[in-house]
Amino acid sequence: MINQPNDPADENLVTVFGGTGFLGRRIVSSLLDKAVVVRAVSRHPHKTKLDNASGKRPSQQVEADIMDPSSMAATVVGSRAVVNAVSLYVEHGEQTFERVHVEAAADLAAASRDAGVERFIQISGIGSNARSLSPYIRARGRGEEAIKAAFPGAVIVRPAVMTGPDDAFITTIARLVRLLPIYPLFGDGSTRLQPVYVEDVAEAVSRLALGQNSTDASIFECAGPRIYSYRELVREIAMQLNVRARTVPVPFAVWTILATATEFLPAASLARNQVDLMRLDNVAAKDLPGLEELGIQSRGIEDVIRMIEHAA
Ligand SMILES: NC(=O)c1ccc[n+]([C@@H]2O[C@H](COP(=O)([O-])OP(=O)(O)OC[C@H]3O[C@@H](n4cnc5c(N)ncnc54)[C@H](OP(=O)(O)O)[C@@H]3O)[C@@H](O)[C@H]2O)c1
Repeated sequence: MINQPNDPADENLVTVFGGTGFLGRRIVSSLLDKAVVVRAVSRHPHKTKLDNASGKRPSQQVEADIMDPSSMAATVVGSRAVVNAVSLYVEHGEQTFERVHVEAAADLAAASRDAGVERFIQISGIGSNARSLSPYIRARGRGEEAIKAAFPGAVIVRPAVMTGPDDAFITTIARLVRLLPIYPLFGDGSTRLQPVYVEDVAEAVSRLALGQNSTDASIFECAGPRIYSYRELVREIAMQLNVRARTVPVPFAVWTILATATEFLPAASLARNQVDLMRLDNVAAKDLPGLEELGIQSRGIEDVIRMIEHAA
């Protein structure tokens, strides 16, 4: 059910595309806490586990595909702000990185502009680069450019790798350090990462969607309080869990072969884009604003590990 533009609730309406995802549902929850009317859009609004976050349900749940331009105007109508938190980690058929992260994202930005939306927030990722050789990283960078062209004044939020209960990162490392006698590293484990708590990013996005920011910068990089090499991070997680981690370097070429062979399996937990991302440092740029500039004190992985253990 979608409100009409002159519905009184529209005064205070934010639409979150991907509002049922790992980050999206925390954005929804953070906006609801601020007494905002939230429309969450996804392809399977009723199939998702909203209760894993806060149990709060969006004010409106709308079924739509970001790749379908015909439904786009109706999904954004009456919104003061629109957030795009749609993901695509593995390409399938016509769902390509270019189609979802560049074309559909730009279509959504253009539809928002045409509907008179005040603010458009695109969730991208640290390291996005329109000139990268990696199809995923390139599409994220090209997507940012296409959105800025379609919606002048759009804000790009680039999170570092996000953590929290039901994440795909710390939870996986924690499971594997307990299970495996020797932990295989990406390369020599020297890639630098700055993991960020997903709810801190959600809070940042909700403040930006409501214009609660003192800086009018157009790009924010949201990262956690500490930078780790991947090897240090694995050891830190093992230490927090009271297990011993013996690590072994594994060349990136081996990971790429593994990801290529397994990413189309239904339960695959490794994709080529992840391997591409792990080749490059993933830390916030010092010259771009982030959580601190939005008045958010970021939480470290010790807190997150406690939450993950508590939720297990
Ligand atoms: N997770 C991380 O560590 C991380 C780090 C940096 C950046 N990011 C970025 O943050 C954003 C959110 O990531 P996430 O991990 O929260 O993703 P996620 O958990 O996979 O959630 C994706 C959301 O998008 C919806 N969606 C997917 N395809 C759609 C389509 N074609 N049309 C409409 N809705 C669609 C999904 O619901 P349905 O499947 O029901 O449609 C779901 O609500 C992405 O841009 C991602 O690249 C994530």
